[in-house]
Amino acid sequence: MGFYSKYVLPTLTDLAMRSHTLRPERARWVSLAKGAVLEIGVGSGLNLPMYGRDVRKLYALDPSEELLQIARSRAARAAFSVEFLCRPAEAIPLAHGSVDDVVTTWTLCTIPDPVAALQEMRRVLRPEGRLIFVEHGRSPDLAVVRWQDRLTPLWRRVAGGCHLNRPMRVLIEESGFRLERIDTGYMKGPKPMTFLYEGSAQAPRPAPSQGRSRPTAGR
Ligand SMILES: C[S@@+](CC[C@H](N)C(=O)[O-])C[C@H]1O[C@@H](n2cnc3c(N)ncnc32)[C@H](O)[C@@H]1O
Repeated sequence: MGFYSKYVLPTLTDLAMRSHTLRPERARWVSLAKGAVLEIGVGSGLNLPMYGRDVRKLYALDPSEELLQIARSRAARAAFSVEFLCRPAEAIPLAHGSVDDVVTTWTLCTIPDPVAALQEMRRVLRPEGRLIFVEHGRSPDLAVVRWQDRLTPLWRRVAGGCHLNRPMRVLIEESGFRLERIDTGYMKGPKPMTFLYEGSAQAPRPAPSQGRSRPTAGR
């Protein structure tokens, strides 16, 4: 791992993700999580204060040890137990059907293989458990998509692997989740970076690994 990824990127990520414009979205969706919860790409732990009293235990997964170190200090104030998992979402170290809800915020854009990650999320969710997501991604506007496609090769190099142009709804649905609710629209800020997909989706029965082929949607 290079100097930029190890020393600069974690601090930049924490600073950028602390933006007050993201807080209402975090509060609105993260507060819905219940029971044993897995947060994917917990980063510097900015969602930790948003979890409500119905959370019994939080598994906080992220492959960046540097970001997890910042998250650990924030977890000290949590009213529930937090177990940190320094692993990628493509290989979640939890048993089948072991969590009630999975939460992901501004993370599917960065995961190298989002389909493998979503299938892992389905595997660890109990049947009819929920995926709660707040993600940015591919805009419905052609002019904006052109910019998203143009900017992504450079953007992902400076922004820790973030893709601006992932079709989040397609990825979630084609990974076998059943959407319960999805809200889309631009936040304040430059349009290529701010088209949001927020909502929840259910992991239907049967469990994921049984004969389901990989979706083909763009990644
Ligand atoms: C833009 S940050 C968002 C952090 C946090 N979710 C938030 O809302 O503040 C993207 C996060 O994705 C994490 N990430 C990158 N690759 C990942 C992977 N393969 N599995 C899980 N998380 C990953 C990064 O380490 C980083 O914490």
